[in-house]
Amino acid sequence: MAQILDGLKISKEIKQEIKIEVAKITASGNRAPHLAAILVGENGASKAYVNSKVKDCAEIGFQSSLFKFASDISEEELLDKIKELNENPEIDGFIVQLPLPKEMDQEKIIMAINPKKDVDGFHPENFGKMALEMETFLPATPFGIITLLERYNITTEGKNCVIIGRSRIVGKPMSILMGRKGNPGNSTVTLTHSYTTDIEEFTKNADIVITALGNPHFLKAEMIKDGAVIVDVGITRVENDSKKGYYLAGDVDYESCEKKASWITPVPGGVGPMTRAMLLKNTILAYNNSGI
Ligand code: GUN
Repeated sequence: MAQILDGLKISKEIKQEIKIEVAKITASGNRAPHLAAILVGENGASKAYVNSKVKDCAEIGFQSSLFKFASDISEEELLDKIKELNENPEIDGFIVQLPLPKEMDQEKIIMAINPKKDVDGFHPENFGKMALEMETFLPATPFGIITLLERYNITTEGKNCVIIGRSRIVGKPMSILMGRKGNPGNSTVTLTHSYTTDIEEFTKNADIVITALGNPHFLKAEMIKDGAVIVDVGITRVENDSKKGYYLAGDVDYESCEKKASWITPVPGGVGPMTRAMLLKNTILAYNNSGI
Protein backbone atom coordinates (compact mmCIF):
# COMPACT_ATOMS: atom_id res chain seq x y z
CA MET A 1 0.00 0.00 0.00
CA ALA A 2 1.32 3.42 -0.97
CA GLN A 3 2.15 6.06 1.60
CA ILE A 4 0.34 9.38 1.24
CA LEU A 5 2.06 12.54 0.05
CA ASP A 6 -0.11 14.71 2.27
CA GLY A 7 -0.18 18.10 0.56
CA LEU A 8 -2.78 19.46 2.93
CA LYS A 9 -0.59 18.74 5.95
CA ILE A 10 2.60 20.12 4.38
CA SER A 11 0.78 23.20 3.07
CA LYS A 12 -0.41 23.93 6.61
CA GLU A 13 3.19 23.69 7.85
CA ILE A 14 4.37 26.07 5.13
CA LYS A 15 1.57 28.54 5.83
CA GLN A 16 2.46 28.42 9.52
CA GLU A 17 6.11 29.16 8.70
CA ILE A 18 5.07 32.14 6.56
CA LYS A 19 2.62 33.35 9.21
CA ILE A 20 5.45 33.50 11.75
CA GLU A 21 7.61 35.43 9.27
CA VAL A 22 4.77 37.91 8.63
CA ALA A 23 4.19 38.38 12.37
CA LYS A 24 7.88 39.29 12.75
CA ILE A 25 7.66 41.76 9.87
CA THR A 26 4.61 43.54 11.23
CA ALA A 27 5.87 43.46 14.83
CA SER A 28 8.86 45.51 13.73
CA GLY A 29 6.54 48.16 12.32
CA ASN A 30 6.69 47.24 8.64
CA ARG A 31 3.66 46.72 6.44
CA ALA A 32 2.54 43.18 5.65
CA PRO A 33 3.23 41.59 2.25
CA HIS A 34 0.49 42.35 -0.25
CA LEU A 35 -0.73 39.97 -3.00
CA ALA A 36 -3.19 41.09 -5.66
CA ALA A 37 -5.19 39.02 -8.14
CA ILE A 38 -6.95 39.94 -11.35
CA LEU A 39 -9.94 37.84 -12.32
CA VAL A 40 -11.58 38.24 -15.73
CA GLY A 41 -14.96 36.69 -16.48
CA GLU A 42 -17.17 34.14 -14.79
CA ASN A 43 -15.21 30.86 -14.94
CA GLY A 44 -16.45 28.98 -11.85
CA ALA A 45 -13.17 27.19 -11.11
CA SER A 46 -11.18 30.43 -11.49
CA LYS A 47 -13.53 32.26 -9.11
CA ALA A 48 -13.13 29.50 -6.54
CA TYR A 49 -9.31 29.51 -6.87
CA VAL A 50 -9.06 33.27 -6.53
CA ASN A 51 -11.39 33.36 -3.53
CA SER A 52 -9.32 30.69 -1.82
CA LYS A 53 -6.16 32.72 -2.47
CA VAL A 54 -7.78 35.74 -0.77
CA LYS A 55 -8.75 33.53 2.17
CA ASP A 56 -5.18 32.16 2.45
CA CYS A 57 -3.80 35.70 2.59
CA ALA A 58 -6.11 36.64 5.46
CA GLU A 59 -5.15 33.45 7.32
CA ILE A 60 -1.43 34.20 7.36
CA GLY A 61 -1.60 37.99 7.74
CA PHE A 62 -0.97 39.13 4.15
CA GLN A 63 -2.89 42.00 2.66
CA SER A 64 -4.73 41.06 -0.50
CA SER A 65 -6.66 42.80 -3.25
CA LEU A 66 -8.95 41.25 -5.82
CA PHE A 67 -9.79 43.06 -9.04
CA LYS A 68 -12.71 41.55 -10.94
CA PHE A 69 -13.60 42.38 -14.52
CA ALA A 70 -16.38 41.29 -16.86
CA SER A 71 -15.35 38.93 -19.66
CA ASP A 72 -15.86 41.68 -22.25
CA ILE A 73 -13.21 43.98 -20.73
CA SER A 74 -10.91 45.28 -23.47
CA GLU A 75 -7.30 44.17 -23.62
CA GLU A 76 -6.34 47.83 -23.21
CA GLU A 77 -8.26 48.20 -19.96
CA LEU A 78 -6.66 45.05 -18.60
CA LEU A 79 -3.19 46.26 -19.62
CA ASP A 80 -3.90 49.58 -17.83
CA LYS A 81 -4.76 47.69 -14.64
CA ILE A 82 -1.56 45.66 -14.92
CA LYS A 83 0.45 48.85 -15.39
CA GLU A 84 -1.16 50.31 -12.28
CA LEU A 85 -0.27 47.24 -10.21
CA ASN A 86 3.25 47.18 -11.67
CA GLU A 87 3.75 50.73 -10.43
CA ASN A 88 2.01 50.48 -7.06
CA PRO A 89 4.78 50.20 -4.42
CA GLU A 90 2.30 48.83 -1.88
CA ILE A 91 1.72 45.69 -3.94
CA ASP A 92 4.52 43.13 -3.86
CA GLY A 93 3.17 40.61 -6.30
CA PHE A 94 0.12 39.88 -8.38
CA ILE A 95 -1.38 37.25 -10.63
CA VAL A 96 -3.72 37.29 -13.58
CA GLN A 97 -5.88 34.23 -13.15
CA LEU A 98 -5.87 31.96 -16.20
CA PRO A 99 -7.54 31.04 -18.45
CA LEU A 100 -8.39 34.46 -19.89
CA PRO A 101 -11.32 34.84 -22.32
CA LYS A 102 -10.38 33.25 -25.67
CA GLU A 103 -10.41 36.56 -27.54
CA MET A 104 -7.56 37.89 -25.41
CA ASP A 105 -3.91 37.54 -26.26
CA GLN A 106 -2.79 35.68 -23.14
CA GLU A 107 0.92 35.97 -23.89
CA LYS A 108 0.67 39.72 -24.41
CA ILE A 109 -1.07 40.10 -21.04
CA ILE A 110 1.53 37.98 -19.24
CA MET A 111 4.36 39.89 -20.93
CA ALA A 112 2.94 43.13 -19.46
CA ILE A 113 3.46 41.94 -15.86
CA ASN A 114 6.54 43.36 -14.15
CA PRO A 115 8.76 40.24 -13.79
CA LYS A 116 9.68 41.37 -10.27
CA LYS A 117 6.00 41.10 -9.28
CA ASP A 118 5.24 37.98 -11.33
CA VAL A 119 4.62 35.65 -8.40
CA ASP A 120 3.16 33.04 -10.79
CA GLY A 121 6.55 32.80 -12.51
CA PHE A 122 4.77 32.94 -15.89
CA HIS A 123 6.62 35.84 -17.50
CA PRO A 124 9.11 34.64 -20.16
CA GLU A 125 11.94 36.33 -18.25
CA ASN A 126 11.18 34.30 -15.14
CA PHE A 127 10.47 31.14 -17.12
CA GLY A 128 13.84 31.56 -18.83
CA LYS A 129 15.60 32.13 -15.52
CA MET A 130 13.98 28.97 -14.17
CA ALA A 131 15.20 26.98 -17.17
CA LEU A 132 18.71 28.37 -16.73
CA GLU A 133 18.72 27.51 -13.03
CA MET A 134 18.88 31.12 -11.93
CA GLU A 135 17.00 32.29 -8.83
CA THR A 136 13.45 33.32 -9.66
CA PHE A 137 9.79 32.73 -8.91
CA LEU A 138 8.84 29.16 -9.75
CA PRO A 139 5.29 28.51 -11.03
CA ALA A 140 3.21 27.59 -7.99
CA THR A 141 2.06 24.07 -8.94
CA PRO A 142 5.46 22.67 -10.01
CA PHE A 143 7.04 24.50 -7.06
CA GLY A 144 4.46 22.84 -4.80
CA ILE A 145 5.24 19.41 -6.21
CA ILE A 146 9.00 19.67 -5.80
CA THR A 147 8.50 21.00 -2.27
CA LEU A 148 6.21 18.09 -1.44
CA LEU A 149 8.78 15.58 -2.76
CA GLU A 150 11.51 17.39 -0.83
CA ARG A 151 9.62 17.42 2.47
CA TYR A 152 8.97 13.67 2.18
CA ASN A 153 12.65 13.03 1.33
CA ILE A 154 11.77 11.40 -1.98
CA THR A 155 14.93 10.86 -4.00
CA THR A 156 14.54 12.04 -7.58
CA GLU A 157 18.20 11.84 -8.61
CA GLY A 158 18.78 9.42 -11.46
CA LYS A 159 15.10 8.46 -11.58
CA ASN A 160 12.94 8.15 -14.66
CA CYS A 161 10.29 10.83 -14.39
CA VAL A 162 7.36 10.84 -16.79
CA ILE A 163 5.16 13.90 -16.99
CA ILE A 164 1.78 13.74 -18.71
CA GLY A 165 0.67 17.07 -20.16
CA ARG A 166 2.75 20.00 -21.43
CA SER A 167 0.75 23.03 -20.25
CA ARG A 168 2.54 26.32 -19.58
CA ILE A 169 1.26 26.22 -15.97
CA VAL A 170 2.21 22.67 -14.99
CA GLY A 171 3.68 20.17 -17.46
CA LYS A 172 6.28 22.27 -19.20
CA PRO A 173 7.77 23.95 -16.10
CA MET A 174 7.55 20.64 -14.23
CA SER A 175 9.65 18.94 -16.90
CA ILE A 176 12.29 21.65 -16.53
CA LEU A 177 12.39 21.50 -12.74
CA MET A 178 12.70 17.72 -12.57
CA GLY A 179 15.57 17.81 -15.04
CA ARG A 180 17.44 20.66 -13.35
CA LYS A 181 20.49 20.10 -11.19
CA GLY A 182 19.77 19.30 -7.54
CA ASN A 183 17.33 17.29 -5.52
CA PRO A 184 14.44 17.43 -6.30
CA GLY A 185 15.81 17.35 -9.82
CA ASN A 186 18.51 15.35 -11.58
CA SER A 187 15.80 13.12 -13.04
CA THR A 188 15.71 11.79 -16.57
CA VAL A 189 12.55 13.44 -17.81
CA THR A 190 10.07 12.37 -20.47
CA LEU A 191 7.38 14.90 -21.30
CA THR A 192 4.38 13.16 -22.83
CA HIS A 193 1.38 14.90 -24.39
CA SER A 194 -1.57 14.48 -26.74
CA TYR A 195 0.71 13.48 -29.65
CA THR A 196 2.48 10.74 -27.67
CA THR A 197 1.42 7.56 -29.38
CA ASP A 198 1.77 5.17 -26.44
CA ILE A 199 1.89 6.86 -23.05
CA GLU A 200 1.82 3.51 -21.24
CA GLU A 201 5.12 2.56 -22.84
CA PHE A 202 6.67 5.42 -20.84
CA THR A 203 4.65 5.30 -17.62
CA LYS A 204 5.39 1.57 -17.19
CA ASN A 205 9.08 2.34 -16.86
CA ALA A 206 8.69 5.48 -14.74
CA ASP A 207 9.93 5.79 -11.16
CA ILE A 208 7.93 9.00 -10.85
CA VAL A 209 4.74 9.83 -12.78
CA ILE A 210 3.28 13.35 -12.67
CA THR A 211 -0.09 13.68 -14.39
CA ALA A 212 -1.59 17.04 -15.37
CA LEU A 213 -4.18 16.01 -17.87
CA GLY A 214 -7.69 16.71 -16.55
CA ASN A 215 -8.83 13.24 -17.56
CA PRO A 216 -10.45 11.49 -14.55
CA HIS A 217 -9.01 8.09 -13.55
CA PHE A 218 -6.78 8.00 -16.64
CA LEU A 219 -3.73 6.41 -15.00
CA LYS A 220 -4.50 2.82 -14.04
CA ALA A 221 -2.42 0.40 -11.97
CA GLU A 222 -1.45 -1.65 -15.03
CA MET A 223 0.18 1.46 -16.50
CA ILE A 224 2.65 1.98 -13.63
CA LYS A 225 5.51 -0.02 -12.20
CA ASP A 226 5.74 -1.43 -8.70
CA GLY A 227 6.90 1.17 -6.19
CA ALA A 228 6.39 4.20 -8.44
CA VAL A 229 5.83 7.66 -6.97
CA ILE A 230 2.54 9.04 -8.31
CA VAL A 231 1.72 12.76 -8.31
CA ASP A 232 -1.78 13.72 -9.47
CA VAL A 233 -2.33 17.32 -10.57
CA GLY A 234 -5.68 16.62 -12.24
CA ILE A 235 -8.81 17.85 -10.53
CA THR A 236 -12.03 17.50 -12.48
CA ARG A 237 -15.61 17.87 -11.34
CA VAL A 238 -17.49 14.67 -12.09
CA GLU A 239 -21.25 14.73 -11.60
CA ASN A 240 -22.80 12.03 -9.42
CA ASP A 241 -25.81 11.36 -7.20
CA SER A 242 -24.22 12.67 -3.99
CA LYS A 243 -25.67 15.56 -1.98
CA LYS A 244 -23.20 17.94 -3.59
CA GLY A 245 -24.06 16.61 -7.03
CA TYR A 246 -20.42 16.05 -7.95
CA TYR A 247 -17.08 14.79 -6.71
CA LEU A 248 -13.53 15.89 -7.50
CA ALA A 249 -11.61 13.34 -9.54
CA GLY A 250 -7.89 13.21 -10.20
CA ASP A 251 -6.16 11.85 -13.31
CA VAL A 252 -5.09 8.83 -11.31
CA ASP A 253 -7.25 5.79 -10.68
CA TYR A 254 -6.42 6.03 -7.00
CA GLU A 255 -8.00 2.79 -5.87
CA SER A 256 -5.92 0.61 -8.15
CA CYS A 257 -2.70 2.70 -8.11
CA GLU A 258 -2.45 3.00 -4.32
CA LYS A 259 -1.95 -0.76 -4.16
CA LYS A 260 1.06 -0.63 -6.46
CA ALA A 261 2.72 2.76 -5.85
CA SER A 262 5.17 3.56 -3.05
CA TRP A 263 3.90 7.15 -2.64
CA ILE A 264 0.77 8.82 -3.97
CA THR A 265 -0.96 12.20 -3.73
CA PRO A 266 -4.67 12.19 -2.90
CA VAL A 267 -7.24 14.34 -4.74
CA PRO A 268 -8.30 16.57 -3.11
CA GLY A 269 -5.66 17.28 -0.46
CA GLY A 270 -2.51 16.60 -2.49
CA VAL A 271 -1.13 19.05 -5.03
CA GLY A 272 -3.93 21.66 -4.80
CA PRO A 273 -3.16 22.99 -1.31
CA MET A 274 0.58 22.97 -2.13
CA THR A 275 -0.06 25.23 -5.13
CA ARG A 276 -1.86 27.71 -2.89
CA ALA A 277 0.93 27.67 -0.30
CA MET A 278 3.66 28.27 -2.89
CA LEU A 279 1.96 31.38 -4.22
CA LEU A 280 2.22 32.78 -0.70
CA LYS A 281 5.86 31.71 -0.57
CA ASN A 282 6.57 33.55 -3.83
CA THR A 283 4.81 36.65 -2.51
CA ILE A 284 6.96 36.82 0.60
CA LEU A 285 10.00 36.29 -1.64
CA ALA A 286 8.85 39.26 -3.72
CA TYR A 287 8.35 41.29 -0.55
CA ASN A 288 11.77 40.47 0.90
CA ASN A 289 13.70 40.95 -2.31
CA SER A 290 11.57 43.67 -3.89
CA GLY A 291 11.30 41.14 -6.68
CA ILE A 292 14.11 38.95 -7.96
N1 GUN B 1 -5.07 28.84 -13.46
C1 GUN B 1 -4.84 27.59 -13.00
N2 GUN B 1 -3.75 27.57 -12.20
C2 GUN B 1 -3.28 28.84 -12.17
C3 GUN B 1 -2.17 29.45 -11.52
O1 GUN B 1 -1.37 28.81 -10.82
N3 GUN B 1 -2.03 30.79 -11.74
C4 GUN B 1 -2.88 31.50 -12.52
N4 GUN B 1 -2.64 32.80 -12.68
N5 GUN B 1 -3.91 30.95 -13.14
C5 GUN B 1 -4.11 29.64 -12.96
